[in-house]
Amino acid sequence: MRQPNESIASFLPSPVGRPPTSRAECEALDARDPLAKLRAEFALEPGLIYLDGNSLGPLTHAAARRVHSMVHTEWGTDLIKSWNVHGWIDLPKRLGGKIARLIGASADEVLVADSTSINLFKLAAAASRGRGTRRRIVSESGNFPTDLYVLQGLCDLGGGAIELVAVPREQLLAAIDENTFLVVLTHVHYKSGERFDMKAITAHAHAKGANILWDLSHSAGALPVDLAASGADFAVGCTYKYLNGGPGAPAFLYVRRDLHDSIEPVLTGWMGHDAPFEFTDQYRPAPGMTRHRCGTPSLLAFAALDGALDVFADVSLGDLRCKSLELSALFIAAVESGGAPDGLVFASPRDPAARGSHVVFAHRDGYSIMQALIARGVIGDFRAPDLLRFGFAPLYVRYVDAWDAASALRSVVESGTFRTAAAGTRAAVT
Ligand SMILES: Cc1ncc(COP(=O)(O)O)c(C=O)c1O
Repeated sequence: MRQPNESIASFLPSPVGRPPTSRAECEALDARDPLAKLRAEFALEPGLIYLDGNSLGPLTHAAARRVHSMVHTEWGTDLIKSWNVHGWIDLPKRLGGKIARLIGASADEVLVADSTSINLFKLAAAASRGRGTRRRIVSESGNFPTDLYVLQGLCDLGGGAIELVAVPREQLLAAIDENTFLVVLTHVHYKSGERFDMKAITAHAHAKGANILWDLSHSAGALPVDLAASGADFAVGCTYKYLNGGPGAPAFLYVRRDLHDSIEPVLTGWMGHDAPFEFTDQYRPAPGMTRHRCGTPSLLAFAALDGALDVFADVSLGDLRCKSLELSALFIAAVESGGAPDGLVFASPRDPAARGSHVVFAHRDGYSIMQALIARGVIGDFRAPDLLRFGFAPLYVRYVDAWDAASALRSVVESGTFRTAAAGTRAAVT
């Protein structure tokens, strides 16, 4: 199996050895793609080119079936008995177990609960309890806003006892020092798609005596992640992107097993109690990841995620990474073939090994261009101030989709049609 850190050459299928230069070559790649059959698991219109799975993954038939059965059989018929009969009470743990393989964790180290923002707060707050005399959390400036905002809120709550230092990527290693108790980084950057070397940075944080928390929102289900091999302490991530859990799907959190007993939750809700149905007055943390539960999970959302995760059951993460890199390499090459159209500038890392599964191009009229593309059935998204973002989710994006999307992008920019297509105000969600 091909490994995630190999160079692009080794990901390109033999005998092609280079990004395809015709649509026919893309069709041939689709014909021998081991993941191609999985597109049928998704409720996607045949002609739609959906390159926004890095924002909201599409509906799977399995998720729809699972929600239907939870609504009609479990809630509708079996009612309260379902907590035991259908195992609702253990669903956060069971879904954590399904995600574990995708992020290089053991089943008992991952829990599904709450949102990414809340899980980040829960773990950072818990880490701050065991910080000793250290005062500093280090993160990256330009990190996804919720990560920075949640940490700012936590520091405010600490009343000056702890501080957040957010620095540009190049200054991160120097900023992690003997005063740092926690480093919080997003593995794959939500704008540029740049991927951190998780193992090297985790080792550096540990050498300085700090713990590290990785936000895997743009990694889980998009590329192989190996939390165990990297030695990471904590991780969080969302499930509505590459894991296709549905809008607002519950998030996951990870704590390395040897930390399970020492990490004490701050949001000490009853579902994280050692014996919730004893209804005692005094909080007592449950063992393992269960202590990171807080209140009653929103089970309909859990049902959708449960179904969606089944699509990953037999997926080789090597195949997933390989196809993701091939798709993005082909898209970039096709957009830039003979020179990128005027004003369009590639803005992700050139080295494929340094990328996640999405790429961005910058253009001063990026918002209008994206609207024009969406009107043509090519769906990506826009991130201010000028980035067009294209996600390549290998379970349902075809090689011909990447080819056709590149042609559409070139045509929209070269023809200038975007100037008329998207006149008007910018929508609330871009
Ligand atoms: C890196 C990252 N973290 C967190 C989030 C969102 O967190 P939440 O699901 O709590 O809104 C996103 C959303 O795009 C993200 O890109």
